[in-house]
This record gives sequence, C-alpha cells and structure tokens, in this order.
Amino acid sequence: MSDERYRYALFSDEKMRKARDSFFWVDSDPESGERIFFENSGGSFRLKKAVEAKARYEELPDCPERTHERALELQAVQRRAEDDILRVICGSSCAVLDCALTASQLNFKLAEVLAENVPGTNIVTTVLEHPSAFDAAAYAAGKTGMELRVARADPATGRIEADEIVRLVDGDTCFLSVMYASNITGSVMDIGAAVRGAREKKPGLYCICDAVQHAMHGVMDMDALGLDALVFAPYKFFSTRGAGYAALSPRMSLLRHHKLAGKPAGVWELGSPTPSNFAAVSAVVDYVCSMGDEPETSERRIRFVSGMKAIREHETALYERMMDGTGAQKGLRGIPGVRVFCDDRDLSRKDLIIAFAVEGVGCAELVSRYAAERITVYERVRTSIYSARMLEALGIDGCVRVSPLHCNTEAEVGRFLAVTEKLAKDAAAGASSGRDR
Ligand SMILES: Cc1ncc(COP(=O)(O)O)c(C=O)c1O
Repeated sequence: MSDERYRYALFSDEKMRKARDSFFWVDSDPESGERIFFENSGGSFRLKKAVEAKARYEELPDCPERTHERALELQAVQRRAEDDILRVICGSSCAVLDCALTASQLNFKLAEVLAENVPGTNIVTTVLEHPSAFDAAAYAAGKTGMELRVARADPATGRIEADEIVRLVDGDTCFLSVMYASNITGSVMDIGAAVRGAREKKPGLYCICDAVQHAMHGVMDMDALGLDALVFAPYKFFSTRGAGYAALSPRMSLLRHHKLAGKPAGVWELGSPTPSNFAAVSAVVDYVCSMGDEPETSERRIRFVSGMKAIREHETALYERMMDGTGAQKGLRGIPGVRVFCDDRDLSRKDLIIAFAVEGVGCAELVSRYAAERITVYERVRTSIYSARMLEALGIDGCVRVSPLHCNTEAEVGRFLAVTEKLAKDAAAGASSGRDR
C-alpha cells in the first residue's frame, strides 16, 4: 500500500537484497557483531568486488610500463578506469586525470598550481569547505600574497547560495573553489549557478570543486558545470582507502605543474601508476551501472547515470523516513527534544547526511549512547579542526552526524529512530530529575 507521507520510493526487495549482498559488513562488525553503521561520510561501506579487484591486482609484481602480456593488461585496466573516472563518473569528455594518496593532497596541489599560474589578487572560497580545500585556498593565497575571500553560508538551509559567491568575485579573482555538498549537513550547492554567475563577473574564471561528499550520492556532469577540476575520494565511494582522483579541464592540465620533463605538457601522472586502485574504481562503476534500469548493451555513462539515479532515489526515500518516520515510529522532526539542523524540505538539495542534536545530552555522550545500542554515528563539534569553522558559520554548537548509504534499509532507519526517541526521553527525564545537570 502506498503511503501518502512519502514522495520517494525505496528499492524493491530484490534490489535491496542485491545492494546488501554487494557490500562487506553491512549489518555487523567482524569482531563485535551486529550493528547499524550510519557513518558513511567518514568512509563508506566497501563494495566486495572493489576490494577483491584491489587484492587481485596487488598480487601481481608486474610493472605496467612494460611490453609483456601482463603489463599490457595492467595498462588496459588503467585506461578503462581513467575513462570510468573522467567520462563515466565525472561526466567529462575531455578531462585529464590526476591521482594522489588523498583528496586533501589534490586540493592543496590544485590551489597552489592555480595561484602560481593565474594572475589575480584574490581567491574566492566558502566557509563550509572541508579544511583540505579551505586551508589549501588559504595556503595558496598566503604564498602568493592574495586576499582570501570567503562566502557565507545560509544557516537555514546549510547552503552557500550562488549570489553570495558571485558577490565576492571580481576581475582580479584568481580562482573559485567551492564544495559540491557539505560533509556536515549534506546540503548540496548549486555549482552550475555559482560558476555561471562568477564567469559573468570574470569571463574564463578558473573554478574547482571538492566533490568528496557528493560523488557517491548523485550524478555529476563536469562539462555541463564548466568546472576546471572535480575532486573525489574512492574510500567514500564504495571503494578502498589510499587514493584520491581529480578530473582536470584541458586548460587546467596545461598550467605549469610537477611533471617529468620528457612527458607532454598536459600529463599529471607522476611515478608508477597503481593498477589495483584503478581496478577497484572500475568495479564500483560496474556496480553502479548494474543498479539502474538500462540494459547491459547501453553505453556505460548512460548505465551509470541510471544506476546513480536509482541509488539517489532510495537514499532520498531513506532521508524522508528519517525525517518523517517509518510506520508508527516518529521521525527526527517529530521526536520531542530532537533538533535537526539546516532542515531543508527540498530533498533535491540534500545528500543523505543529517546533522541533529538532542536536548540535554552532549554530542560526544550521545555518540557513545548510540554505540551502546550498537549504532555507529559521529559527532561534529566546535573543538575539532574538521568542523569548528563550519559549525560557527551555521550557528550550531555541536551536532551528531548520521550518514547512512543506499545499502541501508528502512528497518535500520526505524531502529535508529526508535533508539533516538528513547535517548531523547532518557535525556528529558534526566534533566527533569536533575541527574544530567
Ligand atoms: C568534503 C571533503 N573534502 C575533502 C575531504 C578529505 O578527503 P581525504 O581524506 O581523501 O583527504 C573530506 C574528508 O572527509 C571531505 O569530507
């Protein structure tokens, strides 16, 4: 029976089973047993096929830069993954790949290359950036003597509005760095509007985007957005740790950067490639393609887009249930004592990351009460360098961040909500008896 409360549909039972079977440890920890893991913003569930592909290619000693049969295979693995990253995931027909151990390394490198190559007197970024992009812009500005301009957030929605970014851009802006989605509140920025507006003020402005918290939740289209760089991290996107990727526009790829002198100007690869990481990314793309409705004969980007839309629909359905409840269980909006931050009802502007607090309990204490109930979530507090600036900008003292993934179920959301209601009641009872003062 359809429920009028919901606009978005969960996966069919069959698709839900497939999603859960495809990932390791979706309902338990290998040592401590059953648990609900709602901390995918810190590192997502691991796709079995990605881990297996990574392990398989790690077994081989061969250098990919040889002419033997195995080396040729490794080269093919890399070429396929480069196409998967640039064209299939990032939506660019002409971008160039750069790799590093982490997304943070890429954010710093890109900011520095832009500041050193592109004339200007100011760099524009936003107050909600992760430190790896914010500090990178600040470092590049400091190194080259430029002014750092910081766009403000709207505390009601958790977004940086395009107008606010455009306001800061002028003819002397060196580059704009803006994140795709907030790692604290899940709010998704209108990157296209920000880039278009900024380039009305400065035609040809270089624009780069940290998509680390968005890549696993939605379709990206680098060409349509007109970006010069799009950065993401596989360990938040179903795959393994130890790699970050950036898709670079052709003009960005030609800026002076660290490079072996004998390689063409647009090459960013530096040192031996890692076939196992590439194989793991292609396994992720295979999986996303298989989650959509497009037949196997369809083109890979089309299949990926269809799969990612199906994933997003299920995640948005989980989001709705988090907010409005499941069955008789109240949602976060309806539980007395719970306060949801940046609660935007337009869920097209939200990825599945929710920030909330419970009256009368500190965030760290709340996280350990959830852990005692076998639910993993995490706090974002003002004492952490990873959240202080963003929380202050949003007027939040501290919050608990809950970040499920598409392989989570409605039942898990229901259990999380029931535990939340109990913890909120306990906190209220503690406060009224004076226990928690
Ligand atoms: C939005 C955002 N950007 C960048 C990073 C840094 O990624 P990495 O750990 O790969 O450096 C994170 C990590 O949480 C993030 O959430």
